[in-house]
Formats: sequence, structure tokens, C-alpha cells
Amino acid sequence: MISRWFLRLAVVFGLIGMGMGVAMGATHDFVLAPVHAHINLVGWVGMFLAGLFYAAKPEAETTLARVHLVGLTLGLCLLAPGIAGAVLGIAALTPLAIAGSIVTFASMALFVGIVFRHTGPAKA
Ligand code: HEM
Repeated sequence: MISRWFLRLAVVFGLIGMGMGVAMGATHDFVLAPVHAHINLVGWVGMFLAGLFYAAKPEAETTLARVHLVGLTLGLCLLAPGIAGAVLGIAALTPLAIAGSIVTFASMALFVGIVFRHTGPAKA
């Protein structure tokens, strides 16, 4: 079930993102705040919402949904270190930011298609 994996990954990303928030607050070092924000918003909020969508629309749990799950997870796992590299000035991590941005954006574009396809006019 795709929804189950979206929901499970979302809570794990939420725990990691909030853990970063607690660590930033404790150390008064906020330099990685954009990484924290993206893990929380793409990982926790975005993935949980996708999980709820697939739970409500089981007919949408196709191969495309599987591609969406893998793409969004991979995208965030590339994007987070990529953003960290950008704010810390580590040029070697720039390719991760670029690849992560493209994969995350493509996954969202795919989700747009999935949502539109499965929220068409109600059948009589
Ligand atoms: C245990 C929970 C959380 C803690 C302790 C926490 C802590 C923090 C801290 C310390 C900052 C930096 C503030 C600063 O730069 O002055 C921050 C920024 C931010 N947080 Fe959180 N946060 C938590 C949960 C969340 C969640 C759930 C979201 C979104 C769903 C979120 C989104 C953001 C955003 C958008 C920023 C601004 C990032 C930036 O300025 O680049 N946070 N948070």
C-alpha cells in the first residue's frame, strides 16, 4: 500500500526535522534552518498529505503512485544535503541541490497529474 509508506516516511521525516529544530534551538545555531524547513515541509507535511490522499483514493495507488513515492523520497534525500551544502558553502554538494530540486519538482508534477486524474467529475 502506497499510502502506508507515505505516512510512515512522513512521520520519520517529521521526527528528523523536529529533532533538527530542537538541536538548533538548544545550540542557538540556526544556519541549517532552511534544511530543517524543507525536511519538515516536503517530508513531514507533503508526504503525510500525499499519504492521506492515497488512503482516500485507493484506486490512485498505481505504478505512478509508486514512482511518486520513490521520487519524492529520493528528491528530499538529495535536496536536504544539497541545501546544507549551499548554506555552508560546500560547492561539492551543489549537484545534490540541483538533482534534488529537479527530482522533487518532477515528483510534484507527477502528483498533479495523479490528483487531477482521480478527482475528475463524479460518475453517475
Ligand atoms: C519540534 C518542533 C520544531 C522546532 C523545535 C523548530 C525549531 C525551529 C528553529 C529553532 C528555527 C530557526 C528560527 C530562526 O532562524 O530564528 C526554525 C525555523 C523554521 N521552521 Fe521549525 N521547528 C519545529 C517544527 C517545524 C515544523 C513542523 C515546520 C513545518 C512544517 C517548521 C518550519 C520551519 C520554517 C519554515 C522555518 C524557517 C526556516 C528559515 O528561516 O530558513 N518547523 N524552526
